[in-house]
Amino acid sequence: KKKIAIMTSGGDSPGMNAAVRACVRMAIHMGCDAYCVYEGYEGLVQGGDFIRQMDWHDVRGWLSEGGTLIGTARCMAFFERAGRLTAAKNMILHGIDALIICGGDGSLTGADRFRAEWPSLLEELVRKKELMADQVELYKHLNIVGLVGSIDNDLSGTDATIGCYSALARVCYAVDLIEATASSHSRAFVIEVMGRHCGWLALMAGVATGADFIFIPEKPREDNWREEMCGIVHQHRKRGKRKTIVIIAEGALDKEGNKITAEMVKDLLADKQGLGLDTRVTTLGHVQRGGTAVAYDRMLGTLQGVEAVKAVLEAAPETPTCFIAITENKIARKPLMQAVQDTKEVAKAIERQDFQMAMSLRDAEFEE
Ligand code: F6P
Repeated sequence: KKKIAIMTSGGDSPGMNAAVRACVRMAIHMGCDAYCVYEGYEGLVQGGDFIRQMDWHDVRGWLSEGGTLIGTARCMAFFERAGRLTAAKNMILHGIDALIICGGDGSLTGADRFRAEWPSLLEELVRKKELMADQVELYKHLNIVGLVGSIDNDLSGTDATIGCYSALARVCYAVDLIEATASSHSRAFVIEVMGRHCGWLALMAGVATGADFIFIPEKPREDNWREEMCGIVHQHRKRGKRKTIVIIAEGALDKEGNKITAEMVKDLLADKQGLGLDTRVTTLGHVQRGGTAVAYDRMLGTLQGVEAVKAVLEAAPETPTCFIAITENKIARKPLMQAVQDTKEVAKAIERQDFQMAMSLRDAEFEE
Protein backbone atom coordinates (compact mmCIF):
# COMPACT_ATOMS: atom_id res chain seq x y z
CA LYS A 1 0.00 0.00 0.00
CA LYS A 2 1.31 3.43 -0.95
CA LYS A 3 1.75 5.81 1.96
CA ILE A 4 1.28 9.49 1.21
CA ALA A 5 2.10 12.21 3.72
CA ILE A 6 0.69 15.73 3.68
CA MET A 7 2.09 18.73 5.48
CA THR A 8 1.71 22.50 5.65
CA SER A 9 4.74 24.75 5.81
CA GLY A 10 5.69 28.43 6.16
CA GLY A 11 3.05 31.04 6.98
CA ASP A 12 -0.43 29.55 7.36
CA SER A 13 -3.18 30.56 4.98
CA PRO A 14 -6.97 30.12 4.94
CA GLY A 15 -7.87 27.09 2.85
CA MET A 16 -4.94 24.96 3.96
CA ASN A 17 -7.31 22.76 5.97
CA ALA A 18 -9.46 22.22 2.90
CA ALA A 19 -6.33 21.10 1.04
CA VAL A 20 -5.24 18.72 3.81
CA ARG A 21 -8.74 17.28 4.10
CA ALA A 22 -8.91 16.70 0.35
CA CYS A 23 -5.46 15.05 0.26
CA VAL A 24 -6.26 12.74 3.17
CA ARG A 25 -9.61 11.67 1.77
CA MET A 26 -8.43 11.37 -1.82
CA ALA A 27 -5.42 9.29 -0.72
CA ILE A 28 -7.73 6.92 1.16
CA HIS A 29 -10.14 6.87 -1.78
CA MET A 30 -7.24 5.81 -4.04
CA GLY A 31 -6.47 2.90 -1.74
CA CYS A 32 -3.44 4.50 -0.06
CA ASP A 33 -2.61 5.19 3.56
CA ALA A 34 -2.75 8.89 4.39
CA TYR A 35 -0.41 10.57 6.87
CA CYS A 36 -0.10 14.09 8.17
CA VAL A 37 3.20 15.58 9.20
CA TYR A 38 2.46 17.99 12.05
CA GLU A 39 4.37 21.30 12.44
CA GLY A 40 5.78 21.42 8.90
CA TYR A 41 9.41 20.45 8.25
CA GLU A 42 10.00 20.60 11.98
CA GLY A 43 7.74 17.56 12.33
CA LEU A 44 9.58 15.76 9.57
CA VAL A 45 12.87 16.31 11.39
CA GLN A 46 11.39 15.36 14.79
CA GLY A 47 9.59 12.28 13.47
CA GLY A 48 7.80 10.00 15.98
CA ASP A 49 4.39 11.31 16.91
CA PHE A 50 4.72 14.29 14.56
CA ILE A 51 3.94 11.90 11.70
CA ARG A 52 0.44 10.45 12.15
CA GLN A 53 -1.73 8.21 10.06
CA MET A 54 -5.07 9.82 9.30
CA ASP A 55 -8.45 8.29 8.98
CA TRP A 56 -11.28 9.56 6.74
CA HIS A 57 -13.08 10.84 9.86
CA ASP A 58 -10.07 12.65 11.30
CA VAL A 59 -10.55 15.55 8.90
CA ARG A 60 -14.29 15.94 9.35
CA GLY A 61 -15.34 19.58 9.76
CA TRP A 62 -11.99 20.92 8.60
CA LEU A 63 -13.37 22.92 5.65
CA SER A 64 -14.68 25.68 7.85
CA GLU A 65 -11.67 25.95 10.15
CA GLY A 66 -9.11 28.75 9.70
CA GLY A 67 -5.32 28.44 9.83
CA THR A 68 -3.83 24.98 9.56
CA LEU A 69 -4.94 22.35 12.03
CA ILE A 70 -1.81 20.24 11.51
CA GLY A 71 0.39 23.17 12.46
CA THR A 72 3.17 24.86 10.56
CA ALA A 73 6.61 26.23 11.32
CA ARG A 74 9.53 28.00 9.75
CA CYS A 75 12.15 25.28 10.35
CA MET A 76 15.86 26.12 10.50
CA ALA A 77 17.06 22.51 10.88
CA PHE A 78 15.71 21.58 7.44
CA PHE A 79 18.01 24.18 5.82
CA GLU A 80 20.97 21.98 6.88
CA ARG A 81 21.75 18.66 5.27
CA ALA A 82 21.84 17.03 8.72
CA GLY A 83 18.20 18.02 9.25
CA ARG A 84 17.17 16.67 5.86
CA LEU A 85 19.04 13.43 6.62
CA THR A 86 17.03 12.94 9.79
CA ALA A 87 13.85 13.82 7.91
CA ALA A 88 14.59 11.17 5.26
CA LYS A 89 15.19 8.59 7.97
CA ASN A 90 11.92 9.43 9.70
CA MET A 91 10.00 9.10 6.47
CA ILE A 92 11.43 5.66 5.74
CA LEU A 93 10.76 4.52 9.29
CA HIS A 94 7.11 5.39 8.65
CA GLY A 95 7.21 3.82 5.18
CA ILE A 96 6.46 7.12 3.43
CA ASP A 97 7.85 7.87 -0.03
CA ALA A 98 5.37 10.41 -1.32
CA LEU A 99 4.93 13.88 0.11
CA ILE A 100 2.50 16.69 -0.61
CA ILE A 101 3.56 20.05 0.75
CA CYS A 102 1.28 23.04 1.00
CA GLY A 103 3.27 26.23 1.47
CA GLY A 104 4.91 29.25 -0.11
CA ASP A 105 7.68 29.26 -2.70
CA GLY A 106 10.43 28.94 -0.03
CA SER A 107 8.84 25.79 1.41
CA LEU A 108 8.30 24.32 -2.03
CA THR A 109 11.86 25.07 -3.14
CA GLY A 110 13.07 23.24 -0.01
CA ALA A 111 10.93 20.27 -1.06
CA ASP A 112 12.45 20.18 -4.53
CA ARG A 113 15.93 20.19 -3.02
CA PHE A 114 14.97 17.35 -0.65
CA ARG A 115 13.73 15.30 -3.60
CA ALA A 116 16.91 15.92 -5.60
CA GLU A 117 19.07 14.93 -2.64
CA TRP A 118 16.98 11.92 -1.70
CA PRO A 119 19.18 9.16 -3.24
CA SER A 120 22.30 10.57 -1.64
CA LEU A 121 20.53 10.93 1.71
CA LEU A 122 19.54 7.27 1.59
CA GLU A 123 23.11 6.25 0.71
CA GLU A 124 24.42 8.20 3.64
CA LEU A 125 21.90 6.63 6.02
CA VAL A 126 22.97 3.15 4.92
CA ARG A 127 26.66 4.09 5.16
CA LYS A 128 26.14 5.37 8.68
CA LYS A 129 24.20 2.19 9.49
CA GLU A 130 21.17 4.21 10.51
CA LEU A 131 19.09 2.17 8.10
CA MET A 132 19.67 -1.26 6.54
CA ALA A 133 20.17 -1.52 2.79
CA ASP A 134 17.10 -3.74 2.41
CA GLN A 135 15.07 -1.18 4.37
CA VAL A 136 15.77 1.54 1.82
CA GLU A 137 15.49 -0.69 -1.24
CA LEU A 138 11.81 0.13 -1.73
CA TYR A 139 12.29 3.87 -1.37
CA LYS A 140 14.58 4.77 -4.24
CA HIS A 141 12.53 7.73 -5.37
CA LEU A 142 10.77 10.38 -3.42
CA ASN A 143 7.68 11.77 -5.10
CA ILE A 144 6.86 15.30 -4.11
CA VAL A 145 4.04 17.57 -5.20
CA GLY A 146 3.52 21.18 -4.13
CA LEU A 147 0.34 23.04 -3.32
CA VAL A 148 0.74 26.77 -3.11
CA GLY A 149 -0.63 28.05 0.17
CA SER A 150 0.05 31.71 0.83
CA ILE A 151 -1.98 34.86 1.36
CA ASP A 152 0.49 36.81 -0.76
CA ASN A 153 -0.42 35.30 -4.17
CA ASP A 154 3.26 35.41 -4.93
CA LEU A 155 3.97 32.53 -7.30
CA SER A 156 4.06 32.87 -11.07
CA GLY A 157 2.25 30.27 -13.15
CA THR A 158 -0.90 30.18 -11.07
CA ASP A 159 -3.70 32.74 -10.94
CA ALA A 160 -4.32 32.33 -7.23
CA THR A 161 -2.61 30.77 -4.24
CA ILE A 162 -4.68 29.05 -1.57
CA GLY A 163 -5.61 31.77 0.92
CA CYS A 164 -5.09 34.93 -1.09
CA TYR A 165 -8.78 35.63 -1.71
CA SER A 166 -9.63 35.15 1.98
CA ALA A 167 -6.95 37.66 2.95
CA LEU A 168 -8.10 40.07 0.25
CA ALA A 169 -11.69 39.85 1.46
CA ARG A 170 -10.51 40.63 4.98
CA VAL A 171 -8.42 43.60 3.86
CA CYS A 172 -11.35 45.04 1.89
CA TYR A 173 -13.67 44.55 4.84
CA ALA A 174 -11.19 46.38 7.09
CA VAL A 175 -10.83 49.24 4.60
CA ASP A 176 -14.62 49.57 4.44
CA LEU A 177 -14.73 49.81 8.22
CA ILE A 178 -12.01 52.44 8.28
CA GLU A 179 -13.69 54.46 5.53
CA ALA A 180 -16.71 55.11 7.70
CA THR A 181 -14.70 56.69 10.48
CA ALA A 182 -12.28 58.39 8.05
CA SER A 183 -15.19 60.08 6.30
CA SER A 184 -16.80 61.15 9.56
CA HIS A 185 -13.65 63.00 10.66
CA SER A 186 -12.53 63.94 7.17
CA ARG A 187 -9.31 62.09 7.91
CA ALA A 188 -6.60 60.33 5.96
CA PHE A 189 -5.63 56.74 6.74
CA VAL A 190 -2.48 54.95 5.71
CA ILE A 191 -3.31 51.25 5.80
CA GLU A 192 -0.40 48.83 5.88
CA VAL A 193 -1.11 45.38 4.47
CA MET A 194 1.04 42.24 4.33
CA GLY A 195 3.39 41.49 1.47
CA ARG A 196 7.12 41.67 2.08
CA HIS A 197 7.99 40.95 -1.53
CA CYS A 198 4.68 40.82 -3.32
CA GLY A 199 2.16 43.65 -3.57
CA TRP A 200 -0.77 41.63 -4.91
CA LEU A 201 -2.83 42.11 -1.74
CA ALA A 202 -2.18 45.85 -1.61
CA LEU A 203 -2.84 46.35 -5.30
CA MET A 204 -6.01 44.29 -5.45
CA ALA A 205 -7.34 45.86 -2.25
CA GLY A 206 -6.61 49.26 -3.79
CA VAL A 207 -8.54 48.36 -6.91
CA ALA A 208 -11.41 46.84 -4.92
CA THR A 209 -11.82 49.77 -2.54
CA GLY A 210 -10.89 52.64 -4.85
CA ALA A 211 -7.92 53.74 -2.74
CA ASP A 212 -6.37 57.11 -3.46
CA PHE A 213 -2.81 55.81 -3.72
CA ILE A 214 -0.97 52.50 -3.45
CA PHE A 215 2.60 51.47 -2.68
CA ILE A 216 3.85 48.01 -3.68
CA PRO A 217 7.33 46.48 -3.81
CA GLU A 218 7.08 45.63 -7.52
CA LYS A 219 6.61 49.25 -8.50
CA PRO A 220 9.40 51.13 -6.74
CA ARG A 221 8.33 54.74 -6.55
CA GLU A 222 10.16 57.47 -8.50
CA ASP A 223 11.85 60.30 -6.61
CA ASN A 224 8.79 62.46 -7.10
CA TRP A 225 6.40 60.06 -5.34
CA ARG A 226 5.71 62.64 -2.64
CA GLU A 227 4.52 65.26 -5.13
CA GLU A 228 2.60 62.64 -7.10
CA MET A 229 0.70 61.31 -4.10
CA CYS A 230 -0.02 64.73 -2.61
CA GLY A 231 -1.16 66.00 -6.02
CA ILE A 232 -3.70 63.19 -6.36
CA VAL A 233 -4.94 63.48 -2.79
CA HIS A 234 -5.23 67.25 -3.20
CA GLN A 235 -7.37 66.85 -6.33
CA HIS A 236 -9.61 64.32 -4.59
CA ARG A 237 -10.08 66.63 -1.63
CA LYS A 238 -10.80 69.57 -3.93
CA ARG A 239 -13.61 67.52 -5.45
CA GLY A 240 -15.20 67.07 -2.06
CA LYS A 241 -13.84 63.67 -1.00
CA ARG A 242 -13.92 63.54 2.80
CA LYS A 243 -11.66 60.54 3.21
CA THR A 244 -8.21 59.62 1.97
CA ILE A 245 -7.12 56.00 1.85
CA VAL A 246 -3.53 55.10 1.05
CA ILE A 247 -2.71 51.39 0.97
CA ILE A 248 0.89 50.41 1.48
CA ALA A 249 2.40 46.93 1.27
CA GLU A 250 4.89 46.24 4.07
CA GLY A 251 7.66 45.80 1.49
CA ALA A 252 7.09 49.11 -0.35
CA LEU A 253 10.23 50.63 -1.86
CA ASP A 254 11.50 53.65 -3.74
CA LYS A 255 13.66 53.49 -6.88
CA GLU A 256 16.87 53.47 -4.79
CA GLY A 257 15.65 50.41 -2.91
CA ASN A 258 14.90 52.36 0.27
CA LYS A 259 11.89 51.33 2.27
CA ILE A 260 8.84 53.58 2.14
CA THR A 261 7.07 53.18 5.46
CA ALA A 262 3.52 53.92 6.55
CA GLU A 263 4.90 56.48 9.04
CA MET A 264 6.72 58.34 6.26
CA VAL A 265 3.52 58.53 4.22
CA LYS A 266 1.55 59.63 7.25
CA ASP A 267 4.02 62.44 8.06
CA LEU A 268 3.77 63.67 4.52
CA LEU A 269 -0.04 63.73 4.46
CA ALA A 270 -0.11 65.43 7.84
CA ASP A 271 2.59 68.00 7.01
CA LYS A 272 1.22 71.45 7.93
CA GLN A 273 3.17 73.04 5.05
CA GLY A 274 1.38 70.74 2.62
CA LEU A 275 -1.97 68.98 2.83
CA GLY A 276 -2.11 69.14 6.62
CA LEU A 277 -4.54 66.23 6.85
CA ASP A 278 -5.46 64.69 10.16
CA THR A 279 -3.86 61.30 9.46
CA ARG A 280 -3.76 57.90 11.17
CA VAL A 281 -1.88 54.70 10.43
CA THR A 282 -3.59 51.31 10.67
CA THR A 283 -1.48 48.17 10.36
CA LEU A 284 -3.77 45.26 9.59
CA GLY A 285 -1.19 42.61 10.52
CA HIS A 286 -2.13 39.00 11.16
CA VAL A 287 -5.85 39.71 11.07
CA GLN A 288 -5.33 39.30 7.32
CA ARG A 289 -4.08 35.75 7.66
CA GLY A 290 -6.47 34.57 10.34
CA GLY A 291 -10.11 33.56 10.29
CA THR A 292 -11.97 31.16 8.08
CA ALA A 293 -11.47 30.71 4.36
CA VAL A 294 -13.81 32.28 1.82
CA ALA A 295 -15.65 29.84 -0.47
CA TYR A 296 -13.08 30.26 -3.25
CA ASP A 297 -10.18 29.15 -1.08
CA ARG A 298 -12.11 26.14 0.24
CA MET A 299 -12.91 25.15 -3.32
CA LEU A 300 -9.36 25.76 -4.53
CA GLY A 301 -7.83 23.78 -1.65
CA THR A 302 -10.21 20.90 -2.28
CA LEU A 303 -9.81 20.68 -6.06
CA GLN A 304 -6.05 21.11 -5.86
CA GLY A 305 -5.73 18.60 -3.02
CA VAL A 306 -7.50 15.98 -5.15
CA GLU A 307 -5.18 16.73 -8.07
CA ALA A 308 -2.09 16.64 -5.84
CA VAL A 309 -2.83 13.06 -4.80
CA LYS A 310 -3.29 12.00 -8.43
CA ALA A 311 -0.07 13.79 -9.37
CA VAL A 312 1.99 12.29 -6.59
CA LEU A 313 0.81 8.79 -7.57
CA GLU A 314 1.63 9.37 -11.21
CA ALA A 315 4.93 11.24 -10.78
CA ALA A 316 7.82 9.63 -12.63
CA PRO A 317 11.35 9.79 -11.19
CA GLU A 318 12.69 11.66 -14.21
CA THR A 319 10.04 14.38 -14.36
CA PRO A 320 10.68 17.65 -12.56
CA THR A 321 8.82 18.31 -9.31
CA CYS A 322 5.41 19.73 -10.07
CA PHE A 323 3.01 21.98 -8.25
CA ILE A 324 -0.72 22.32 -8.68
CA ALA A 325 -1.83 25.58 -10.27
CA ILE A 326 -5.06 27.18 -11.38
CA THR A 327 -5.00 28.90 -14.75
CA GLU A 328 -7.98 30.00 -16.81
CA ASN A 329 -10.15 28.41 -14.16
CA LYS A 330 -8.62 24.97 -14.68
CA ILE A 331 -6.57 22.98 -12.22
CA ALA A 332 -3.22 22.13 -13.79
CA ARG A 333 0.14 20.53 -12.97
CA LYS A 334 3.17 22.69 -13.66
CA PRO A 335 6.93 22.40 -13.15
CA LEU A 336 7.71 23.93 -9.78
CA MET A 337 11.19 25.33 -10.29
CA GLN A 338 10.20 27.03 -13.53
CA ALA A 339 7.51 28.91 -11.62
CA VAL A 340 9.96 29.83 -8.84
CA GLN A 341 12.37 31.15 -11.49
CA ASP A 342 9.63 33.10 -13.29
CA THR A 343 8.53 34.61 -10.01
CA LYS A 344 11.99 36.08 -9.55
CA GLU A 345 11.99 37.49 -13.06
CA VAL A 346 8.48 38.80 -13.47
CA ALA A 347 6.73 40.60 -10.69
CA LYS A 348 3.30 39.03 -10.65
CA ALA A 349 1.38 42.12 -9.68
CA ILE A 350 2.60 44.24 -12.55
CA GLU A 351 2.15 41.47 -15.11
CA ARG A 352 -1.46 42.54 -15.07
CA GLN A 353 -2.11 45.55 -17.23
CA ASP A 354 -5.76 45.57 -16.23
CA PHE A 355 -4.80 46.74 -12.74
CA GLN A 356 -3.22 49.85 -14.21
CA MET A 357 -6.48 50.46 -16.04
CA ALA A 358 -8.49 50.07 -12.86
CA MET A 359 -6.33 52.64 -11.07
CA SER A 360 -7.03 55.07 -13.87
CA LEU A 361 -10.67 55.13 -12.73
CA ARG A 362 -9.66 57.33 -9.80
CA ASP A 363 -11.39 60.72 -9.55
CA ALA A 364 -8.06 62.41 -10.17
CA GLU A 365 -7.94 61.00 -13.68
CA PHE A 366 -11.21 62.62 -14.71
CA GLU A 367 -10.89 65.68 -16.91
CA GLU A 368 -13.73 68.13 -16.31
O1 F6P B 1 4.19 34.93 3.59
C1 F6P B 1 3.02 35.41 4.10
C2 F6P B 1 3.24 36.56 5.02
O2 F6P B 1 1.98 36.80 5.52
C3 F6P B 1 3.85 37.83 4.47
O3 F6P B 1 2.99 38.64 3.73
C4 F6P B 1 4.32 38.50 5.72
O4 F6P B 1 5.35 39.39 5.45
C5 F6P B 1 4.80 37.35 6.54
O5 F6P B 1 4.06 36.23 6.11
C6 F6P B 1 4.68 37.52 8.02
O6 F6P B 1 5.23 36.41 8.62
P1 F6P B 1 5.19 36.09 10.16
O7 F6P B 1 3.85 35.54 10.46
O8 F6P B 1 6.26 35.07 10.35
O9 F6P B 1 5.43 37.36 10.89
